[in-house]
This record gives sequence, C-alpha cells and structure tokens, in this order.
Amino acid sequence: MSSIASTTPIAQHSKVGDEGHAPKHVAVIMDGNGRWAQARGLPRIAGHKEGVEALRKTVDACKALAIEHLTVFSFSTENWRRPKAEVDALFALLKLFVKKDLNRLHKEGVRVRIFGSLDGLPADILKLIDECESKTAQNKVFNVNIAFNYGGRAEIVEAAQKIAADVQAGRLSPESIDESIMQQHMWSSDLPDVDLLIRTSGELRISNFLLWGIAYSELMFLDILWPDFGKVDMERAIDVFKNRNRRFGGVEPSKVIES
Ligand code: FPP
Repeated sequence: MSSIASTTPIAQHSKVGDEGHAPKHVAVIMDGNGRWAQARGLPRIAGHKEGVEALRKTVDACKALAIEHLTVFSFSTENWRRPKAEVDALFALLKLFVKKDLNRLHKEGVRVRIFGSLDGLPADILKLIDECESKTAQNKVFNVNIAFNYGGRAEIVEAAQKIAADVQAGRLSPESIDESIMQQHMWSSDLPDVDLLIRTSGELRISNFLLWGIAYSELMFLDILWPDFGKVDMERAIDVFKNRNRRFGGVEPSKVIES
C-alpha cells in the first residue's frame, strides 16, 4: 500500500492556522472497513460497526472546523453484489444510526439527508429517509448527507430522464438545458459542489461517487483505514486543503503577464 507521504504530504502542511479557506463541503469515501476487521480476525461487519464510530467522530470534527456539509458514501448501487448478510448489516447499521443519533443531531441543529436511488429500497428505509428529511429540514448548524443506494452515473441518468420528460411535456425547451438545470434534477440537487473529496484506505479511485458534484474538488487519498480515521486526520486534511491552490480552470492573478 502506498504511504500517505507519497500521495498527500500531510506532515509538511499540518500547521494550524495556515492561509486559505476551509472547505464548505467535504465528501468522504469511507473505505477500508473490511480490511480493518480482517486484520483483527473479525468478521467484515465488525469493521462497518467501527466505521459508524469513525463517522460520529468525523461529524463532530467537521462541525468544530466550521465545515458546512459532510457527505459520506455509505452504500453504493454496486454494493448489492456483496453477500446478503453484509448488505443486511449495512441496512441495519443505517437504521441503528438514525435511531441512536437523529434526536441528538437534531438538537444540535444538524440537518440530516439520506439520498440516492429509491429503487429496491424497503419501506422501512424509505420511512427513515422521510423522517430524517422532515425532522431536520429547518436545521442550519451543519449538514450530514448520507449517500445510500447511491451511484454517480445512475444519478446523472435519472436527471437526464427527468429533463427529457419535462421537454416532452413542453415544460422545458432543449436550448434551456444548462448546468443549473442538470443540478436541479440531481438527487443531490440542494448540495453545493464538493470542495474536498477524501478517500481512506489507500485506494486511488472515485468509485462512481458524486460524479457531477466533484468536478472541481480537491482529491485526497489517505493511507488510513476508515475505522481508524478521526478528528486529527480531518484537521490535517483541512490544513492540507488550505494549502492547495484552486484555480477552477483559470490562472492566478499574480501569474498573468500583460502583453
Ligand atoms: C467500504 O469499505 C465501506 C462501505 C461499503 C460501507 C461504509 C459504511 C459504514 C462506514 C457504516 C454505515 C454507515 C452509516 C451512515 C450508518 P469496505 O467494506 O469496502 O472495506 P474493504 O475495502 O477493506 O473491504
């Protein structure tokens, strides 16, 4: 596995109070639960359980760092290919998380969204999604967005289908379709663009996560298994982010030489 220094030189940047802005929206691919469990001779599900603890710590860290949105990948449209017992456990953990944490998060002013494809989801999960949305819709302190049964390509395909239906019904003209119309038809329509995407476990992949919203994200691949991720790791990641030079396709004003 590559070391953290080879991809993200955190150690060189971890001075508190560095220049640059904190990210508004951090997204995380919480990878490495299975390997964490395997290394301890435990079933994979134990890794997912510990992953929920890491998520709790990450929510607290992001709130303290004044980040506005944390979006996590908790079940992908491809995760249905895993053994049924593991799929069931991931569904159960989502239910348990909402049961145990929703009231506390609500009291702390956190808005909780669960988004993704509704296809194939059982009624109790659909109820849970509604409960989170309706209970916390007015909260403004922080946003926890859980991508569940989520696939980036499926999200774009469904947006295209909805737009095509609007065009067919005469509600929209083809010429008026632009990036903002696309955005409005996404499952993640009310989320801002992702500023920083973190993937743990040393894998260097996007895995179909938030394909639309990460267009200009800074990417960070950390050599830490998700259950081991905590407050200090998030603080370091934010310090590294603050030292990144984001140009969004433009040029830094100081580098422009007038002719
Ligand atoms: C990837 O690790 C992780 C997942 C597919 C699930 C992530 C889920 C959680 C952290 C817990 C549930 C979340 C909520 C919101 C309650 P992996 O299993 O692919 O790990 P591996 O690559 O080491 O096998």
